[in-house]
Amino acid sequence: MAGATVDTILARHGYEEHALIAVLQEIQRERNWLPPEDLATVARMLRVPASRVYGIASFYKAFSLVPRGRHVVQVCTGTACHVRGAPQILDRLGRDLEIQPGHTTNDMRFTLEKVRCLGCCSIAPVVRVGEHIHGRLTQVRAGSMLKKYP
Ligand code: FES
Repeated sequence: MAGATVDTILARHGYEEHALIAVLQEIQRERNWLPPEDLATVARMLRVPASRVYGIASFYKAFSLVPRGRHVVQVCTGTACHVRGAPQILDRLGRDLEIQPGHTTNDMRFTLEKVRCLGCCSIAPVVRVGEHIHGRLTQVRAGSMLKKYP
C-alpha cells in the first residue's frame, strides 16, 4: 500500500472496535477500494467477525469491494447537472477512457462512475476527480481535465 498500512491505520484508532467504520474509510481513501486481505486483517485485529466487517463494507455505497483506478471520476447526474449537459460529458469521458460507467481502465488509472448530486449545483455540470471538483464543464474541458491526472 502506498501511504499508511492497515496496521498504522488501526493503531491511529487505538484498535478500537467502535472505530470500525472510520478504519474502513481510511483504507478506502488510501487504496480507493477495500481489498479482502485488508478486511481480514481488520477483522482479526479488532476481534470482530469477518461477516460484520463485510456487512458494513457492502452496506455503504461509499465503500468499494472491487478494485478501482488511481483516480475515481464521478460525473454528477443530478437534475441541475443533467439539464446542463451531464449526459454529454459522461459520453465524452466514456469515449476518451474507452469504458462504461462503473468500469475501470485496463491500466488502473481511472474508474468512471455516475453519482447523484454532489452538492454544488450552482456550478453545474460538475465532475469530481478524487477530492477535486470541476465545475461548469463542457465536453472539451472534460476531455482536457483528465490530462492533469497521471
Ligand atoms: S445536481 Fe450536480 S451538483 Fe447538484
